[in-house]
Parts: sequence; structure tokens; C-alpha cells
Amino acid sequence: MSYAKYITHLNLEYDNDELKDEVEDLNFQPFNLYTKGYNESEDAAWWIARIRENRSMYPLIDGIYNLLEADVIAIHRQYANTRINTHIDPNSVCCVNIILSGHTGPVLFEDYGKIYYKCALLNSQHWHSVPSYDEERLLVKFAYFKKPYEEVLTNLTNKGLIPKARLNEINRT
Ligand SMILES: [Fe+2]
Repeated sequence: MSYAKYITHLNLEYDNDELKDEVEDLNFQPFNLYTKGYNESEDAAWWIARIRENRSMYPLIDGIYNLLEADVIAIHRQYANTRINTHIDPNSVCCVNIILSGHTGPVLFEDYGKIYYKCALLNSQHWHSVPSYDEERLLVKFAYFKKPYEEVLTNLTNKGLIPKARLNEINRT
């Protein structure tokens, strides 16, 4: 079964190390996300930093934000050996995520299974989780408040950001 309705890989060009340098020293705060079977002692393990004002201080992030025409930028840090239980993203309907850490585990969509990605558009209105992994996961998220996955997919396709092979697959589903 194709996973096109959950994730679409993007061929966005960026320097991973330079992007990481821009966000690594931000002020991360604990983020309590409602998840299925939420357990405060085990699950308060997700940390978030936001870039709102002064976007020009983060030129690479700002450039990608403008290109993607996203609404909000959030950086997430999930420490090694912690999990994010099954959830739907609370404030956005879809997002482009770029995973900045080297070796990382998959996202797990409840109705599909594990999907590995590095830079992709995700339909975060499907129930998903991030299983525990033995290395930290650092990612930058460009989220859309109201634009649905399909609409963002069309916009990103028009900007040439979806690999051709992927488009053929999407068209078949
Ligand atoms: Fe999520």
C-alpha cells in the first residue's frame, strides 16, 4: 500500500549542518502534548522552541519558511530513548518536517506503520507516534494552520519540490 496520503518526501535543498547550527542553541521548553494513553511521568519528553520574531537572525530557516509559505516554525527535540505516544498534531493540519539529527527512527502512522523520512510533508491529522530510539531526534517543523495536506502538496509540486517518481506514485493512488 502506498503511504502517499500520510507522507510525501521533498527534494528541498539545504545544508543540514548549517540548519542545525541555527537552531541547536534555542531555548527549548517542555511540551505536554495530549496523546493516547498519556502518562505524565513517562511522556513529558518532548521539547519545543519556536522562531516567531527576528526571523532574519535565522536566514536559512527563514528562507525555507518563505519558500514553503508555512504559518509557523517550531523546533522539536526528542531525547534518546523517549517516545511520543499516538496523537494528532493539535494546532496544525499538516507540516513540512526536516530531521536534523543523523540517525533517527521512523514516524509510525497508526493505520499504516513505520515510515522513515528526512525531509517530508506530513499529514499530521492521521494518528501517529514516534517510537523510542537510541539517539536524540532534532527536527524543524514548518506547520500549516489551515491549509490541508493536499493543497500544500499541490503548491509544493508547482514549486518543483516533489520528486517526479513520487508524483507518478501519488497519481496512481
Ligand atoms: Fe505529530
